[in-house]
Amino acid sequence: MKSVRVLTICGSLQPMSANRAVLESVAANLRGHGATVDDFGRLAEVPAFAPGTSESAAVHELRTLIASSDVVVVASPEYAGGMAGALKNALDWIVGSGELYEKLVSVMSAGTTGGLYARQQLVRTLTWQGAFVIEELGIASPRRKIDDTGVVTDDMTIADLRAFASLIVRKAKLPPHIQRAEAEVVAARLGIEPRS
Ligand SMILES: Cc1cc2nc3c(=O)[nH]c(=O)nc-3n(C[C@H](O)[C@H](O)[C@H](O)COP(=O)(O)O)c2cc1C
Repeated sequence: MKSVRVLTICGSLQPMSANRAVLESVAANLRGHGATVDDFGRLAEVPAFAPGTSESAAVHELRTLIASSDVVVVASPEYAGGMAGALKNALDWIVGSGELYEKLVSVMSAGTTGGLYARQQLVRTLTWQGAFVIEELGIASPRRKIDDTGVVTDDMTIADLRAFASLIVRKAKLPPHIQRAEAEVVAARLGIEPRS
């Protein structure tokens, strides 16, 4: 069976990022399962979304990487009760081009409270773009769980991230109708209403 191809996207633009740290941990676990992992590293280059305008090189790369992935793993800080604005902006560029339609996505937020509102907003916007969000995970108080070099050191968090990665690989191999059902469970758990 071919290996699962994963794209990671980090919504934080700060150098010492808790979301980057948990994303790297998940990526390492995914590679341990034989997955191929690419990272979209040009979030800061994505221009403000303007409908009808042509795509920049960074937007083209984002669309191409999403299209060629089996699963997208997104980690975002929560800022003022929502996902990072740079990430929402990048996701807005995908609405018209459609690469997220029926794409498997897993969502994390590492932040003071565990980022429930960031995860809810992420699941809503991804679901409304037609994605199947098959997993979501919040990591509260991440600064106490990550060392100065950006490595996750807390045993419970290490176990949670390992389990999160295992579920991604397992769910990536499920039949599409089961993946859809899994996504409905995640959306319902977070109180996300279907697109009207
Ligand atoms: C402007 C600003 C607003 C924030 N708002 C929230 C918030 O609404 N909820 C929350 O849990 N954390 C909030 N935080 C804390 C961040 O989520 C936390 O610092 C997180 O670790 C940032 O992610 P990063 O380390 O990956 O950059 C906020 C931080 C900043 C700088």
